[in-house]
Amino acid sequence: MVNIINKRKTQHIALCLKRYNRSKLVNDFNNYQFEHNALPEINYYDIDTTVIFLGKKLKYPFLISPITGGNKIGRKINQNLAKLAQKFGIALSVGSQRSALENDNFISSFDIRKFAPDIPILANLGAVQLNYGYNIEECQKAVDMIRADALVLHLNPLQEIFQPEGNTNFYGLQKKIENICNKLNVPVIVKEIGYGISYDVANRLYQAGVKIIDIAGSGSISWSCIEAQRQQNISIKMAAKNFKNWGNSTAKMLKILSNNFKDITLIASGGIKNGIDMAKAIAMGASLCGNALKFLQTIYKSEEKAEIFINEMIFELKTAMFCTGSKNIEELKKAKINFINNIT
Ligand SMILES: Cc1cc2nc3c(=O)[nH]c(=O)nc-3n(C[C@H](O)[C@H](O)[C@H](O)COP(=O)(O)O)c2cc1C
Repeated sequence: MVNIINKRKTQHIALCLKRYNRSKLVNDFNNYQFEHNALPEINYYDIDTTVIFLGKKLKYPFLISPITGGNKIGRKINQNLAKLAQKFGIALSVGSQRSALENDNFISSFDIRKFAPDIPILANLGAVQLNYGYNIEECQKAVDMIRADALVLHLNPLQEIFQPEGNTNFYGLQKKIENICNKLNVPVIVKEIGYGISYDVANRLYQAGVKIIDIAGSGSISWSCIEAQRQQNISIKMAAKNFKNWGNSTAKMLKILSNNFKDITLIASGGIKNGIDMAKAIAMGASLCGNALKFLQTIYKSEEKAEIFINEMIFELKTAMFCTGSKNIEELKKAKINFINNIT
């Protein structure tokens, strides 16, 4: 089983880098625009972008979303991302730790705490595994393995359906997530992987005790297309094209969730393109923004490319803060942002 998981992880990296596997949907932040402040009354160099997440100080409200782990390439990527996250003072999530739970040889590819002692690191497992033999023991083991500050459980029904070796029994998961929330010694974060968390799902997660939700909406990868290329079944391969643009946009879901769940910490991810999207997301109620694909694309080439990407994001975030007169993240949360298009 572990070999299958690792082969899949390697294929995912290669396929995610292909442009034709992108969804045509957008993240919808283009439908929102800040009110420009021509008289900001702040010094650009005084802008403070720090935030507290999971009790730790971040220099920027930014998260490297879960990508990988397990195989050799995943190990290198995780190590480089950890060094990057530590250097820039941002949060980091590893990809699914299932391979390491099933074979100790793969634990080393998640062994990144030594490279990033100060930042929040998030453990990661597929929530559906709670229906395939995993329980609190496995969740706690994933957390302890990397001395994580929280556990991310990802929800990925569409991917599992298209995946040749997919686990498609999602029955009764809400109760099982509730059990993990009650027993785990760190907070549980629930995320999608590119299709978004709707109001209804957020409500059920809230009832289950989940206090942090990562929207992970549309605007980037099409998992149906990716999994279809690993499929032998012709009908499923054909169906994948019709699901290419499935999903809920990050901005739309963020607006709904932030209006309705005042005591859930929201992470906006899914197709976040630049630091202006990040600033808009914060102004619309997110505490943090995440990105996976862009980090994968850049770190895959070189650490330097990944640093250029982060620096661009930071510069755009700070410029958006400057031009909205927001001296710090608390002020950015109150910045005026207008809906400029009818997307409903
Ligand atoms: C190669 C690759 C592997 C991924 N594996 C995981 C995973 O193991 N666990 C998870 O929660 N999300 C995983 N994701 C999903 C991302 O964390 C993220 O939710 C998704 O890519 C949408 O965000 P983006 O638009 O910033 O890429 C993966 C993404 C990529 C590109």
